[in-house]
Amino acid sequence: AGQELRYDGQTVVVTGAGGGLGKSYAIFFAARGANVVVNDLGGSFKGEGGGSAAADKVVDEIRAAGGKAVANYDDVVNGEAIIQTAIQNYGRIDVLINNAGILRDISFKNMKDQDWDLIMRVHVIGAYKCARAAWPYFRKQKYGRLISTTSAAGLFGSFGQCNYSAAKLSQVGFTETLAKEGLKYNILCNVIAPIAASRMTATVMPPEVLDNLRPEWVVPLVAVLAHPSNASETGSIFEVGGGHMAKLRWERAKGALLRADDSFTPAALLKKWDGVSDFSEPEYPTGVADFMGLLEQAQKLPPNPPAENIQFNGKVALVT
Ligand code: NAI
Repeated sequence: AGQELRYDGQTVVVTGAGGGLGKSYAIFFAARGANVVVNDLGGSFKGEGGGSAAADKVVDEIRAAGGKAVANYDDVVNGEAIIQTAIQNYGRIDVLINNAGILRDISFKNMKDQDWDLIMRVHVIGAYKCARAAWPYFRKQKYGRLISTTSAAGLFGSFGQCNYSAAKLSQVGFTETLAKEGLKYNILCNVIAPIAASRMTATVMPPEVLDNLRPEWVVPLVAVLAHPSNASETGSIFEVGGGHMAKLRWERAKGALLRADDSFTPAALLKKWDGVSDFSEPEYPTGVADFMGLLEQAQKLPPNPPAENIQFNGKVALVT
């Protein structure tokens, strides 16, 4: 028989685990031997109300199957209390999955401050507070696995979701930096952009599509990233859903490199404009160090080309 990936003796905290993707993660990790903290505030998908029923149901299901789990009903902005539930019940935390989320979809024109603020509160502050509370434990034991949740809406934009897009892309930058800061302590941090049937997507996708987007199908990627056998995958962005899993990364065009001297003008840029969007020989930057090399090169360039009439988007544009 093949060997299962197991998490015996480990504690996994899953935020927003009362339903949807979080529930699938919690059930999986418990089935594979982990102690699981099932956090859920129990409110509506728009972030209204609350209650203990959502988390309790998942804990009951896990226990009925012989697994170990405890419920926590705190709002993710009280991250300290969520992590303390892990420490008090199981004495440790090994994995944090920042998964809790809400939606407040509305066109930018009609957006109210409350729609913006609530989304930032749950997705940005909540993920920060939970990670911040787990971090000292991760560092001290020189082990931690953090998985946060972004979205296609954040990566690409999505009509009516500018609040959610802004909040979700924050999780990419957050993860990239924590991956760098955590590396020395064996704290590996990754971010996923899932797509799955849940109460969140039920309102926007037809049933036949949702049938092929089971939340359980996101679990294998999260399982691999969260496991001790993952010794090097960190700072990565993944899209995952419907059985598809792929990394995403930044791509840099060839660019226009100019010397920042007296001839550093809009016209000088227009002369080299084609390079700005020339992706024929792309680079894949992973840090600001690549950029420093470009600065050095620019200083060695000859003076910029002299000003003359230049075509820009089909029109004769600036001269200098
Ligand atoms: P869901 O609504 O089924 O699950 C989210 C859970 O988080 C709910 O049980 C909710 O009660 C809980 N929650 C909300 N605010 C909370 C708070 N302040 N504190 C504690 N718990 C809270 O939604 P789903 O689809 O499972 O979403 C999970 C994550 O995946 C979210 O971060 C979402 O933004 C993200 N996502 C989901 C996609 C999808 O296709 N389902 C697409 C892209 C991202």
